[in-house]
This record gives sequence, C-alpha cells and structure tokens, in this order.
Amino acid sequence: MENYSFVIDGGRRLAGEIELQGSKNSVLPILAATILTREKCTVHNCPRLSDVEAAIDILSHIGCRVKKDGHDIEVDASGVYRYDIPPHLMREMRSSVIFLDAVLGRMRRADLTYPGGCELGPRPIDLHLSSLRKLGAEISEEYGHIICSSSERCSGVVDLSFPSVGATENIMLFSALSEGKTVIVNAAKEPEIADLQIFLNKMGARISGAGSGVIEIEGAKSLHSCEHSVIPDRIALLTYMCAAAITGGEITVHNADLGHVESAVFVLLSSGCAIESFGDTVKLRAPEVIRPVKLIRTMPYPGFPTDAQAIFMAYLTLANGTSTFVENIFESRYRHTDELAAMGADLIVT
Ligand code: UD1
Repeated sequence: MENYSFVIDGGRRLAGEIELQGSKNSVLPILAATILTREKCTVHNCPRLSDVEAAIDILSHIGCRVKKDGHDIEVDASGVYRYDIPPHLMREMRSSVIFLDAVLGRMRRADLTYPGGCELGPRPIDLHLSSLRKLGAEISEEYGHIICSSSERCSGVVDLSFPSVGATENIMLFSALSEGKTVIVNAAKEPEIADLQIFLNKMGARISGAGSGVIEIEGAKSLHSCEHSVIPDRIALLTYMCAAAITGGEITVHNADLGHVESAVFVLLSSGCAIESFGDTVKLRAPEVIRPVKLIRTMPYPGFPTDAQAIFMAYLTLANGTSTFVENIFESRYRHTDELAAMGADLIVT
C-alpha cells in the first residue's frame, strides 16, 4: 500500500465555481454491467479514480478490451473468456465484489476471493451470497475462494434483511441476464441503484422499481450495446459544500443534483448555510456563525449518508454548541474522531 501525504496550508476562505465529477458508486456497478453483453458499451462522465482503474484491471483480466479517453470509457466485452478474479485484483478495491454476479451472469460460473475488510470495519458479503443461493446459484467456498455456478434460468424473490447497496446491485446484474422473474424486497433505494437500472434497461434489460423498496427484474436472454452518462457524485457534492461551509466561503457547483442530498442539505440549512439551486447548479454560502445540529443519524438512502458523516463532523466541530452523530451503517466509521480530537476538537465517542 502506498503512503500519501496531503499538506494543507489552511486558514483560507474557499470560494469559487466547480464542475462536479461523475459518481464513483454509480460507475463501478455500471462498468461491471458492461460484461453482460458481447457488444460495445460506452460510459461517459466517469470520474478519474483508483477504484475506476481497479475496475478496468478486472475487466481487462477477464478478457474485455477497454479504451479510456478522458472521462469516457468504452468496454468491448465480446472476448470475455475468464470467470476468475485473482486475490490481488479483488483486494485492489473494496467494491470488487460487484463483479461477482456480473461474471456469473455472463459466464454462468465465477471464481473470486473475498474482497476483505477495510478501515470501516468488516465488509461481510453474506447477503450477496445468500441472495444468489436463493435465486438458484450453487456456491461453494474453498481455501478463501468463492466458487459459483448457475444455470441460465435463475429467478425468485429475495427479501433482504438490510437494504444493502452492493447486494441490491449484484442481484440486478445477475438477474438481468437470467431467465425468469426476480423480485428484490427491501432493496436499497440509492440514486446509484436507479442509475444502474437505467443503464441495464438501455442494454435491453427489463427492470422496474429502482428507487423504491421493491425492484422487479424480468430476465433477458441477451443484452446489447448502449451509451450512458453516469449521474453526478452526491458525496463529492457534499464534500465541496462542506469545504465552503467550514472555511466561511461561498461555492457554486455545476452538474449537481440537490435532490440526491436532501437529508444532508437539511443539516446544512439547520446549521445556518444559505443554499440555492437552479437547474443543475447549486450555490452555498457559509453562515457567519455555525449552529450545532442536535442529532444526525446515518441511514440508508434517503437518510443521511454514512459517506458524508466524517466531513459533516469536521464541519460541526466549529459550531457554537454540541452536535450528536449516530453511525448506523458501518461499525468502525469513527476513526477520524481521534484525529479531530488531536487537532483540538472537543468530542467524545460513547
Ligand atoms: C455502498 C457504497 C459505500 C457506502 C455504502 C453505504 C459503493 C461502491 N459503495 O457500499 O460508499 O458507504 O454503500 O451507503 O456503492 N452488509 C452485510 N452483509 C452484506 C452486505 C452488507 O452485513 O452482505 C452490511 C455492511 O457491513 C454494512 C451495511 O450492510 O454495515 C451496508 O453495506 P452496503 O449497503 O452493502 O454497502 P456497500 O454496497 O458495501
């Protein structure tokens, strides 16, 4: 693992205009979806991130030809010939498990290793595996490998005990190319799920309900080429908004969708920020005095996003009173609190 340093010469008011990048959490399942067809797919508005490179490495390993041009990625999956993803590629990013169901859907076989834990705590994939079993896939685990096989016809009702984003996406990917009807109950409702539905339907899949708690998938025999631009990154939007708010600044963000971050906007408004939005432009002006926010509970969408918890905590350490956070999604997502305390923040974790 490489070590990076960020040297921040602080104390400046951040102000200006910025163009928001495409969503990381959208582009990864969409890149996995490109292997469900033998035809070429083009994905626009891809962010430049190491996770995207890791996804491209996995695509290339299984036999795709991938061309990257700025923010556009073209995937030609006609030559996919492998169904294994070796440990070093699985470890490259936490979300590599998103390839499990896509590889199984395309090849009807998959051999992957566990993606492993991360700084957020354990990343179990029991819901991914139990859903696949429920749909009729066979799974065995040997020496750290997850070995799956399935017939062309796999369907059923999967009732998720928790609306896992990754598990919902994986079921959609597998079922899009499995004959029969699949229903996901208690599905995740994140905007990235809706974006994946749009992409898969552009490929000829028949999926409805994304964005609600029930998603229905009528499996198709084959899918075809398509072109798509991924949605803007709502977590990056909140990061830029907080960066302006925490430094007493003023920011204009283009290519943004404020509708994707309503719960967090409520928190920013409660703390005194002024926010305006017109079309796909969002403006934020920091408050003179930051007011505390009584209770912020991270929840599955449309609740407050866990991915924005740390940055909002940093922001609210400057409020003129006590704010309370409750993390409900990842058990170890408080590691930044020690660092904030080391910088003089007055906070306790109970
Ligand atoms: C996705 C996002 C991540 C975000 C998270 C929660 C991507 C690439 N990543 O991650 O940025 O923080 O949603 O909004 O989209 N769980 C299980 N068993 C499983 C699967 C999940 O117990 O099989 C638990 C996890 O440990 C966690 C919770 O469910 O506590 C949420 O996980 P999940 O929604 O699956 O998150 P990811 O898809 O991994």
